[in-house]
Amino acid sequence: MNRHRLLISSSILGILSLSAWAQSELPAPVEMTSKEDHKHMMDQLGIRSIRRGADGRDKESPRYANYDEAKANPYPNLPEVLLAQDRKKVTTPEMWWDQRRGEIVELFDREVYGRVPDNMPKVTWKVVNTLEEKRSEIPIITKDLVGAVDNVSYPHVTVEIQASVSTPAAAEGSVPVVVQFSGSFFYGRRPGVDPAQRPGGGRGFGGRGPRGPSWKDMVTEKGWGFAKIDTYSIQSDKGDGLTKGIIGLVNKGQPRKPDDWGALRAWAWGTSRLLDYFEADDAVDAKRVGLEGHSRWGKATLVAMAYDPRFAIAYVSSSGAGGAKLHRRNCGEIVENVAGSGEYHWMAGNYIKYAGPLNWGDLPVDSHELIALCAPRPVFISSGDKGDGWVDARGMFMATAHAQPVYELLGKKGMGTYEFPELETGLMDGDIAFRQHAGGHTDGPNWPTFLTFAERYWK
Ligand code: GCU
Repeated sequence: MNRHRLLISSSILGILSLSAWAQSELPAPVEMTSKEDHKHMMDQLGIRSIRRGADGRDKESPRYANYDEAKANPYPNLPEVLLAQDRKKVTTPEMWWDQRRGEIVELFDREVYGRVPDNMPKVTWKVVNTLEEKRSEIPIITKDLVGAVDNVSYPHVTVEIQASVSTPAAAEGSVPVVVQFSGSFFYGRRPGVDPAQRPGGGRGFGGRGPRGPSWKDMVTEKGWGFAKIDTYSIQSDKGDGLTKGIIGLVNKGQPRKPDDWGALRAWAWGTSRLLDYFEADDAVDAKRVGLEGHSRWGKATLVAMAYDPRFAIAYVSSSGAGGAKLHRRNCGEIVENVAGSGEYHWMAGNYIKYAGPLNWGDLPVDSHELIALCAPRPVFISSGDKGDGWVDARGMFMATAHAQPVYELLGKKGMGTYEFPELETGLMDGDIAFRQHAGGHTDGPNWPTFLTFAERYWK
């Protein structure tokens, strides 16, 4: 190397180490309990107290959740999905795409799920493990993936998104893939990591349903692939984690502002980054990537589908409050529960306002508009029955029904009704679909229904 070159490279090194030094001067993440962080957010909002949530367990409690349909609709008027802010009726697809859709996104960003910051750091994906396995006797190839998030701006926080993708070994070309949101799952396959150490213990939340034939077997039998993403590797599922994970990394360890993103939006963001990886993986047809999630991951599924138009289809299972259920409904879980210190981290801080002093009817948007953001892409909203009352099947159906006009405006087919269907009677013929299965709080029983729905698009 000549002297000139040496000089340049040593000054580059100098700049690099100078910036590393500057970053290391940044303080470590603020440590707060969930209660403290929740209080800190209420202080920012100027709120002294909020109303308490419904009690889901104790039938004797005066706050026991309402299940009486006669009392379930205190705010029967929903925001009109096809009425723009200038009071003009949205009558053409152009008006939807150029005006109304963006208005709705802005309101969900600001008041409900929070904003993803501009200039998000880059994610670099690596295949860390390749396994030859079998599903239903069919040979498949599983790749364990790690998406490392660039943290030069704040080295105190490291985020490595963990995911895996499995595709049929004999596939000629790329295949459709269904991605399931879940808790930690692949620690067991990582050398030196004890599966019992993962959040949720040995099995993770994801495995709550009944055991029947697994969805992975069913997907493989169709010739498709399946993938999982570990949401906790993106953002923790507690308020005390908001100064860490991807939210803490971009906030440099400081607490959130009222319109900053919450965990649902962060999980959705991480899944969009996985889709970026899929776009570069020849085994996956990135134009046919579906999403599935149950319960809190059902909420994440709907948020990811609504915000990233590249996702092709979604199975949203028992997503309930903060998901497909109307915020304006008084049935099962209510806004006050989601705004409390155990769940507020899913949402933008601003959402807390609607549990006091404001009310549900003050929300400028409701969940039918979130579902409408998925249009024209196919969405299946699913619920269980007994044991799944907390998610309010009817409130999710009503939101689905009121999203139909947008599907129809965009030339797609709705469910053809606003009437709540009988149990186990799927409204599956349109591009927006609903079915309440007879099981409890699980995604198991509606998997075959979803796969038949998806097959219409992926044949
Ligand atoms: C709680 C919470 C729900 C959530 C569920 C889950 O019941 O109130 O909103 O969906 O946990 O994710 O298991």
